[in-house]
Amino acid sequence: MTVILEYEAAVRESWILVHDQGAVLTARFYENLFALDPALRALFTRFDEATRSRKLLAALDEMVLLLDAPDRLVSAIIPLGRRHGEYGVTDRDYHTGATAFLLAMHDVLGERFTVDADRGWREVYALVSEVMRRAGHGVTRVASSDT
Ligand code: HEM
Repeated sequence: MTVILEYEAAVRESWILVHDQGAVLTARFYENLFALDPALRALFTRFDEATRSRKLLAALDEMVLLLDAPDRLVSAIIPLGRRHGEYGVTDRDYHTGATAFLLAMHDVLGERFTVDADRGWREVYALVSEVMRRAGHGVTRVASSDT
């Protein structure tokens, strides 16, 4: 599989810059997500905030690490996409997630979130969410114990 990410270097640089503030980044991400679509809050019932944040950061770490190995990246994302299907995440939610994530990066990095980094993360999110969405299609939503 050939995937050319034009702004890979900018993505890696921005990830290094934001890394120390990972918890702030994820907090902003969820704030933005719930501000854009308050109904999404109801999907997040399984993990406490700290665990959820840690898991999201670990997944993003792995993705950035695998940007130059797209086959491995795709293999790593498929089970994650299936689980998101079980969580009830829809195509529309992935779209909302893109906005929430890009805004969060901008919130944390300010001017250090360059145009190239923004373009690069759009590319990465498009690739990752496409694979996750496809993997999640046809998966039955599994209600958590709280829902
Ligand atoms: C495309 C980027 C995304 C990545 C990399 C990502 C990553 C993760 C990870 C690593 C987890 C931890 C649990 C697991 O591994 O299954 C998780 C949980 C979850 N994610 Fe995502 N996610 C993404 C997008 C979204 C979007 C757009 C939504 C929709 C609102 C969403 C909703 C959820 C929910 C509901 C959970 C379960 C959390 C809970 O019940 O507390 N995710 N995500």
